[in-house]
Amino acid sequence: MSDSPWWRDAVIYQVYIRSFADADGDGIGDIAGIRERLPYLAALGVDALWINPWYASPQADAGYDVADYRAIEPAYGTVADAEKLIVDAHEHGLRLVPDIVPNHTSDQHVWFRAALADEPGARARYVFRPGSGPDGAEPPNNWRSHFGGPAWTRVADGSWYLHLFDPGQPDLNWANPEVAAEFEAVLRFWFDRGVDGFRIDVAHGLVKDPALPDLTDPRDQLGRSYPAGGHPYVDREGVEEIYEAWRRVADSYPGERMFVAEAWTPAPERLARYVAPGRLHTAFNFDYLVAPWDPAALREAIDVTTGHLRAAGAPATWVLSNHDVVRHPSRYGRPTTEREEVPTSTVARDGATDLVLGTRRARAALLLEAALPGGMYVYQGEELGLPEVEDIPDDARQDPTWQRSGFTVRGRDGARVPLPWSATAGTSAGFSPPGATAPWLPQPAGWTDYAADRQEGDPDSVLELYRAALRRRRAHPALGDGDMAWVSAPGDAVLHLRREPGFACVVNLGLEPVDLPAHDEVLLASVPLEGGRLGPDAAVWLAVS
Ligand code: GLC
Repeated sequence: MSDSPWWRDAVIYQVYIRSFADADGDGIGDIAGIRERLPYLAALGVDALWINPWYASPQADAGYDVADYRAIEPAYGTVADAEKLIVDAHEHGLRLVPDIVPNHTSDQHVWFRAALADEPGARARYVFRPGSGPDGAEPPNNWRSHFGGPAWTRVADGSWYLHLFDPGQPDLNWANPEVAAEFEAVLRFWFDRGVDGFRIDVAHGLVKDPALPDLTDPRDQLGRSYPAGGHPYVDREGVEEIYEAWRRVADSYPGERMFVAEAWTPAPERLARYVAPGRLHTAFNFDYLVAPWDPAALREAIDVTTGHLRAAGAPATWVLSNHDVVRHPSRYGRPTTEREEVPTSTVARDGATDLVLGTRRARAALLLEAALPGGMYVYQGEELGLPEVEDIPDDARQDPTWQRSGFTVRGRDGARVPLPWSATAGTSAGFSPPGATAPWLPQPAGWTDYAADRQEGDPDSVLELYRAALRRRRAHPALGDGDMAWVSAPGDAVLHLRREPGFACVVNLGLEPVDLPAHDEVLLASVPLEGGRLGPDAAVWLAVS
């Protein structure tokens, strides 16, 4: 790999803490569970961990409703445990990047309680408005919550507050300087404790049009039907100033602290604003995530985003799955080539998922992703080849989407099922110690088939493919940060890219096996070659001269 700053080409492993590893037996993952698994993560070959919100929270949206940004959720541990994890992770050569949630707090946050009590100045930290219609009995405008229903809830004295997500997640008013000051202090609180950066939740949403106009299309929550920056709450001008201030905070610390923005922008060129010089270091490339398994779509997502980010001086980041979307072996095994406009809403689909096909494609997708210039994210369990769990009993569902949508949209639980660590040890496929409480989301039958200890040492397993790919990626001088060039032409069913010195990646997205191009050595193949040829939905890394 190159000797660029670490965040330009890091492999960052996403720890969804509730479902990662439960050390104390309450059926919920915790910080002690992460500490126990650091050797596994170091051996996997990742460089850093992004940890989903670990703060004290009533869990109305799995921790994205933060009641206290300076406290750890008691089910996960304490601030002292977090400090120990930071030290241990660093000893294992792993950096630590927690989530920060600046768009909204929990309704149990001390600020929101003060707002409900109408203490002086307290409501000005949130978005309170009188209602519309007779007696103000209707919401102030037509905005919808991402989880379904109106984006407004009425309080006892008749006014309404804005929540673009759950009613337990009131939106903050970033026009109020107290809000900006508080978040800078929170960043410092955790930087002082040694964290290496933050993943910024809903980074595109902090600035709202103060006039709060009705949406012309209330279903347009990504701003696609508006001119750039013209949507009342998606990707407005002004977010960049917030992040310039955050960058100054990060840069005031030694070591290279970084930010990655979760920014859903209406067009890829808008993403560049978040990572322009003096702003954030990186932003997730969701265009790549939502691209179907199709050569033209993947190539376009790679070229377009890379181009815009490079123009801004930032590296690309590649991501295939996270806690909000259907796991990619299932996505790639579905009979659809459509781009998913709103990948956060996991709508039940007709038509079977072909997991054999989806898994084969997921293996190839890993080799493509790890060959691209920039950094990449691995969502916990993708290294085990976990599919989406499609048959969670409805009464066990936890995602607020299920209830808020009037029980029509199942939500994201299927990507959040607790990990299977062991086919033999512990309870719940080794997620918890023996005799523990059942896990917070039920695991499906056959989950131990994916257990890490069952895959370990099996050269055909997804886990060993990940280990081999990440090991090679780290060792190869052509991989990580830098440039790439296409050898294949646009429209080809085969994607063939080169990186210097001496590396090629070939992915066959067609229906027939293809010959390998001239090469010195096969470095790694997603599945065995077929008589020296590359089969459909397969990828290979080659040493070339
Ligand atoms: C982000 C998170 C998602 C959460 C939402 C509200 O999209 O990834 O899980 O529900 O923000 O905080």
